[in-house]
Amino acid sequence: MPTLLRLDSSYDDAASVSRLLTDAFTRSWLAGGPGRAVVEHDLRTDPVPPPGSGALHWAPGLRGPDALVPADASAAQARVLDELLAADAVVIGAPLYNYGLPATLKAWVDQVHVPGTTAPFGEGGPKPLRGRPAVVVATRGTAHDGDSEAEGRDHALPVLRLILGEALGMDVHVVVVDRTLSLTTPAFVDDRERFEKRFAAATTELEALAAHL
Ligand SMILES: Cc1cc2nc3c(=O)[nH]c(=O)nc-3n(C[C@H](O)[C@H](O)[C@H](O)COP(=O)(O)O)c2cc1C
Repeated sequence: MPTLLRLDSSYDDAASVSRLLTDAFTRSWLAGGPGRAVVEHDLRTDPVPPPGSGALHWAPGLRGPDALVPADASAAQARVLDELLAADAVVIGAPLYNYGLPATLKAWVDQVHVPGTTAPFGEGGPKPLRGRPAVVVATRGTAHDGDSEAEGRDHALPVLRLILGEALGMDVHVVVVDRTLSLTTPAFVDDRERFEKRFAAATTELEALAAHL
């Protein structure tokens, strides 16, 4: 049965723009074919812990002889990896927080990037997720495009492209919506029209992506 893993990482619930968009993607993906299933994992309410030992960054065969790996930490990582490896596609809500990834999502990334298990280490190593679609829905409070002050200050998307795309070999698609603070913060209210246009376009992009993945 084709399965989509939906990950949300926003610290907000009802007011979250990334959740609205991962939801739109999920609904379109479900409508795209019979017998489809979705696993929803909200990293805010059901957080993934960071790896319980630095050794868990490496496949067992690559760890040093003195590596200490608590059994419960190993089991926690196995649950995260199993969930990802069982998915045919992933959609990830990824707000920009303090120029980087939400802590909720960073912990997940730290658990799933495991050289020797999910990423090759040396020639011809494993890449079990190679070619699987990963759709990243990136939301940012202010503008980061063109000559905006914050241009180049998004340090979250480069990490996701590097880890999901280069390291894990997934087929990464990124849909970005800027100026979300125009919804909630009076200082940014003049950005509302541009936000709304972009939000509508992003919804259409995500629905189109869901239809062909
Ligand atoms: C802790 C925190 C840090 C934030 N840092 C940034 C930032 O560095 N740059 C930015 O453009 N917006 C920043 N924002 C605004 C969020 O990116 C914005 O509200 C976004 O829409 C959050 O995603 P969501 O709507 O899915 O919850 C921050 C918000 C929070 C709560």
